[in-house]
Amino acid sequence: MATAMEVKLDPWGQTQVDDYTKLFEEFGISSFDEILPRIDYPQKYMRRKIIFGHRNYEFILKAMQKHQPFSVMSGFMPSGRAHFGHMMVMNEIIWHQQCGGDAFVAIADMEAHAVRGISWDLCKELGINEYILSLIALGFEPKGHIYFQSRNYDLRDLAFELAVEANFSEVSAIYGFCGETHIAHMESVMAQSADILQPQLSKYSGPKPVVIPVGADQDAHIRLTRDLAYRMRKFLVEQRPSYVSIRGKAAEPKLIEAAIDRLKEAGYNKIMRYEEHIDILEPSILGEIDEIIRKVEVEYGEFGFIPPASIYHRFMTGLTGGKMSSSKPESYIGLTEAPDKAAEKIMKAITGGRQSLSEQKKLGGEPERCSIYEFLLFHLSENDGEMREIFEECRGGKRMCGSCKKEVAERIWLFLTEHQRAREVAREMLPEFGINI
Ligand code: TRP
Ligand code: SF4
Repeated sequence: MATAMEVKLDPWGQTQVDDYTKLFEEFGISSFDEILPRIDYPQKYMRRKIIFGHRNYEFILKAMQKHQPFSVMSGFMPSGRAHFGHMMVMNEIIWHQQCGGDAFVAIADMEAHAVRGISWDLCKELGINEYILSLIALGFEPKGHIYFQSRNYDLRDLAFELAVEANFSEVSAIYGFCGETHIAHMESVMAQSADILQPQLSKYSGPKPVVIPVGADQDAHIRLTRDLAYRMRKFLVEQRPSYVSIRGKAAEPKLIEAAIDRLKEAGYNKIMRYEEHIDILEPSILGEIDEIIRKVEVEYGEFGFIPPASIYHRFMTGLTGGKMSSSKPESYIGLTEAPDKAAEKIMKAITGGRQSLSEQKKLGGEPERCSIYEFLLFHLSENDGEMREIFEECRGGKRMCGSCKKEVAERIWLFLTEHQRAREVAREMLPEFGINI
């Protein structure tokens, strides 16, 4: 008979997802489960519950389904080797690009330079060789935008503008700044918020839903940026018990007049005007009013930002158990790593196997805590049916770690060999992406 524990187990390792429920409760991240059935052809990480949470992803879905403009954006700090964790973000960006999103990728060289002390030359080299080549090799298309923060002056202007709205105490509370923190570190935080909001600049045809695929640890950036997006608005549109309140925030009179005109054009009649404040005293849809007001802001040269949406994926455990860490080379596999070396690391990895062969046969393995199984689940199998089979075989004691590892080592060898070949093709394509070496 199945115990409660066993009921919880499934091929997608749901038990680990439970560790993240704290994030849902504490920070208001929504569970991805609710939204998954509404996606026609969910991406692999979605199907396998690797993406476990989101903020406002419903706006992205709606835009996708109605063929309205939306964007996807994320960034990479060029401070070390790109590994399979980075590849997840890359694949999420590419999937959204294929679904019609305008895709943006930041190489966060300002951050790497300010926070990690990486020289500009090394930032450029790592940016191209580690991140950009792999991104293109995985299928990123030239219609998207890849940029280095330091050379993107629209971005730097926007970062400065956002800094007007961010104060020291709140930013310190998030990032742990203190008196010794370099000013450039703070600037790089603003650059990251600017990365996230940039797809909504008028240059890219204005406000639109933007999704930021990130690891669960990056939520603080998203929250800060969502706050800043609200604060850049000229009006605050809010539902009150019996009316909608539209408060101007230092909005010029001409903006307030334009707002009233547009509301009237849209058929609203019971409009009360105060000095910097408009109330709509009739039944109305908040979202619709907000859109009208946002358009007025944009018409008058304001940003009118929509708070960014986000999706969160869980992390793989390291091959040596515990976290994957760049300071422990045996714990992860780099995308540019020699295939033979990668296969070796797999052969040495910690598995969910039992002490002895006979125990394994009797009790079965524990794929839900096996780094080899995780590698398959996250990266080396596209076939959900196959994953179910491996899961059952392992748990049923029909799969032995030695041969299982060997199979996965072969797959990783093949994957890396092909990926690295694709990277060489990508190198030739760099000019198409506006990257000059
Ligand atoms: N700070 C991120 C990191 O440490 C990199 C980054 C820069 C980023 N800009 C971004 C991530 C915008 C998401 C969105 O890896
Ligand atoms: Fe992991 Fe494979 Fe061993 Fe199962 S058989 S515990 S999946 S290495």
